[in-house]
Amino acid sequence: MDDPLVAERQASMKAIAEAARTIDWMFSRRRDYDSRAFKGAAETIRQHSGEALVSQFPLGSFGGHSGATAEIDRSREEFVALSNHLETFAAELSRAADEAPDRLTDDMKMGDHVPLGGSLLGRRPGRDADADPSTMPAEHVFHLMLEDCASCHAKFREKAE
Ligand code: HEC
Repeated sequence: MDDPLVAERQASMKAIAEAARTIDWMFSRRRDYDSRAFKGAAETIRQHSGEALVSQFPLGSFGGHSGATAEIDRSREEFVALSNHLETFAAELSRAADEAPDRLTDDMKMGDHVPLGGSLLGRRPGRDADADPSTMPAEHVFHLMLEDCASCHAKFREKAE
């Protein structure tokens, strides 16, 4: 596997992770909300997802210093779908920042009655995976987005040598 490409995509993933942390800190109030920084972070994720992400994982894209698994070639459609899903959520977060230039509005936040990924009936993973993100609070979109990271990593990433 050619190392510059691996280094490049690992750097992209680090940028995505850094951006996700920025958004997380704003929702959890570890950092003041700033719509430009929020949007910038969402845009960083958007630009590194979808087609851009997939193009960094050509066929045979595993081994060596890479943590990518051979499963990417075997389940390419699923890999592409997850990458596109990530892009959709990131675009939605970017739009939410446009609509809230001054403060984190109440309708961006999840009420206490919408626990992360679950309900009173217990956890039902993927429950909202296909729901329209434009109808959800941005914080909920963000949590679903993190499920995309976890789903993709569970199947397509392993510990590199
Ligand atoms: C479509 C699949 C996919 C999605 C979605 C995805 N990742 Fe990854 N991620 C990977 C793969 C594959 C690797 C291993 C890349 C390699 O080492 O070649 C990786 C590696 C990483 C790494 C390690 C980078 C390094 O330095 O080696 C981090 C951090 C990371 N991802 C964070 C995230 C975060 C945060 C999200 C969600 C916001 C996310 N990823 C979404 C597939 C994905």
